[in-house]
Amino acid sequence: MTRHFRTLRDLSRDELLALIERAIELKALRGEPSHPRPLQGKSVGILLEKSSTRTRISFEVGVYELGGLPITLKSGDIQLGRGETIEDSARMFSRFLHAVVFRTSTHERVLRLAANSTIPIINGLCDTHHPTQLLADLQTVQENLGHLEGMRVAWVGDGNNMANSWIEASSLLGFELVLAVPPGYEPDAEVLKAAEQSARGQVRVLTGPGSVDEAIRDSDVVTTDVWVSMGQEGEQGQRNAAFLDFMVDARRMKLAKRDAIFLHCLPAHRGEEVAAEVIDGPWSRVWDEAENRLHAQKALLEFLVP
Ligand code: CP
Ligand code: NVA
Repeated sequence: MTRHFRTLRDLSRDELLALIERAIELKALRGEPSHPRPLQGKSVGILLEKSSTRTRISFEVGVYELGGLPITLKSGDIQLGRGETIEDSARMFSRFLHAVVFRTSTHERVLRLAANSTIPIINGLCDTHHPTQLLADLQTVQENLGHLEGMRVAWVGDGNNMANSWIEASSLLGFELVLAVPPGYEPDAEVLKAAEQSARGQVRVLTGPGSVDEAIRDSDVVTTDVWVSMGQEGEQGQRNAAFLDFMVDARRMKLAKRDAIFLHCLPAHRGEEVAAEVIDGPWSRVWDEAENRLHAQKALLEFLVP
């Protein structure tokens, strides 16, 4: 049966933990003669309907280092961008390629591509999920804290694709996640409902005054993201107003545990969601986090591609 990675929920808890462990191993093996090459003779499409720096480069380099051929396709350059259906595109990709990474708008487009593919489809970000980023984030936490279970994570800002994927990670692994979001910018209702129903769920969403400080207090990890995600450019003005008091600054980081770390999937806007003193300061692990995209996605490809 073809395994896809549409959201984190496509993995079991044990599979997720094993992938993170493997990502750390692959990081240590990088450049060594014993580094595995399971994609030798295989090709992976990287299909982009939105901009990307990290996802594109980390998948291209990762596929290459695993011995395969990465083929980046901007949807405007292929027939999909001229109206060929997702279903027919999926059938074509399945005849030529061994996996496809898909960055798109609605999650429904990811589901349709996967439903019509006989090769693994990896969600490289959609409007409601960013699961490959979470693999790297969890790896970074594991490397810094030495554990994932029992930790407390604070999410500050928009209840967006990254927030939803953090919620799914919390449900799978059972760590405490407290999200401080402005009213009207809560995470996806279905993702929250699934988290509430999960046996391990420990997710709280705070929207009242003082919620940012409350979320960050005593946390091990503080994380945030842009106020305006790709595709929301028309909402810039109202979003800037709604998120005015949601910047992660040094005063707030000092409320977290003494050895707390700061994560951000990048790209970042200094002076908006994060102060320069935080992203460029001692708490920040954002550059390791970005590098870990490479290692974590190699572990994912090794696991998914038969
Ligand atoms: N974090 C992330 O996905 O970055 P890109 O948009 O540059 O791929
Ligand atoms: N939430 C952001 C993440 C970018 C990697 C976006 O969707 O634009």
